[in-house]
Amino acid sequence: MKIRLLIAALGILLSAGCAGRRHTSGINTTDILSRAAEQYKVLAATTPAGRFPKSTTADGKLETSGSEWWCSGFYPGTLLYLYEQTKDGSLKSEALRRLKSLEKEQYNTATHDLGFMMFCSFGNANRLNPDDAYKQILLNSAKSLSTRFNPTIGCIKSWDSKNPSDFLVIIDNMMNLELLFWASRESGDPRFREIALIHANTTMKHHFRPDHSSYHVINYDAKTGQPKQKRTAQGAANESAWSRGQAWGLYGFTVMFRETKDQKYLAQAEAIADFMLKHANFPADKVPYWDFNAPGIPNALRDASAAAITASALLELAGYVPARSAWYKQTAASMLMRLSSNDYLAAPGTNAGFLLKHSVGHLPAKSEVDVPLSYADYYFVEALIRLKKS
Ligand code: GLY
Repeated sequence: MKIRLLIAALGILLSAGCAGRRHTSGINTTDILSRAAEQYKVLAATTPAGRFPKSTTADGKLETSGSEWWCSGFYPGTLLYLYEQTKDGSLKSEALRRLKSLEKEQYNTATHDLGFMMFCSFGNANRLNPDDAYKQILLNSAKSLSTRFNPTIGCIKSWDSKNPSDFLVIIDNMMNLELLFWASRESGDPRFREIALIHANTTMKHHFRPDHSSYHVINYDAKTGQPKQKRTAQGAANESAWSRGQAWGLYGFTVMFRETKDQKYLAQAEAIADFMLKHANFPADKVPYWDFNAPGIPNALRDASAAAITASALLELAGYVPARSAWYKQTAASMLMRLSSNDYLAAPGTNAGFLLKHSVGHLPAKSEVDVPLSYADYYFVEALIRLKKS
């Protein structure tokens, strides 16, 4: 009798444990993350040495890049997140192999994307296993990024231009500031943090419209520091709201609040969230069209990457705004639920080893349209982990 009671009690405990893995949103984050880990082994097996998964070609084959491409840090970063969740050592060794090929980018001063490239990769490696070698690489990366800061403009230069009077800054650049905050904390040198603050303040002043949507590109006059052109590159039109750009802004200003506790950054992040989540063209299933003003809505393409970045940002923002916490969490959970459905999450072994289908890289250039993208996967995994912990 006692043994039967013991077995029954054990059964109840075990089933409670299993149910516990299923988040209140209804998403079984543990199962999806395990499935993601298996899928990334497919990607690992097909990615040539020294290369980084980027997307797929028109015929569905894996497309890779060298370490200099802005997305090179996402693959090792995703592997590290998945290793952290599964403790599968093969994911860690694959990540460490790729970090070796990425290391040289610490001295790259020709890009503003060093935050993406080095903090998503070495930042996660150092978080999991603090190491002086990683720290030095990250500090060198922050120094390289800082060389692109111009005090007259008050921004880090995003893209180089043939015209010396141009100074081009894109909203995406908000994502590179987290590395600078880390560098000031680590080194005690306040300069990195100051650059991040000035860049964010200039961006707040010039990148946003009265409705809190953002332009993609601001071209500042290199002499006066004043904007001379506000336009798009990857969006549908100069005056449209390119979805991933809105997501980068949301995530970037959420990080600004995390790092400074300055209410103005929180207000900015909330205003961006309002613009996105209350927009008439924000679909019921919460996966944004590639541009909020895309021609052809409701038949326009969706962008899974914008959904993944937004979900991850909202889950962090939810922790800072008690009054909106439930709304942000629910929206993020709906996004992740939809991204975890068969329509977006690739069947095991398909999609060239990537997790998500249906992202849009650069539609006006007809590049990376309706394809998997390494950063969609990175922020999807990050958001799942954030949801699991919430
Ligand atoms: N320029 C980075 C992006 O496509 O979001």
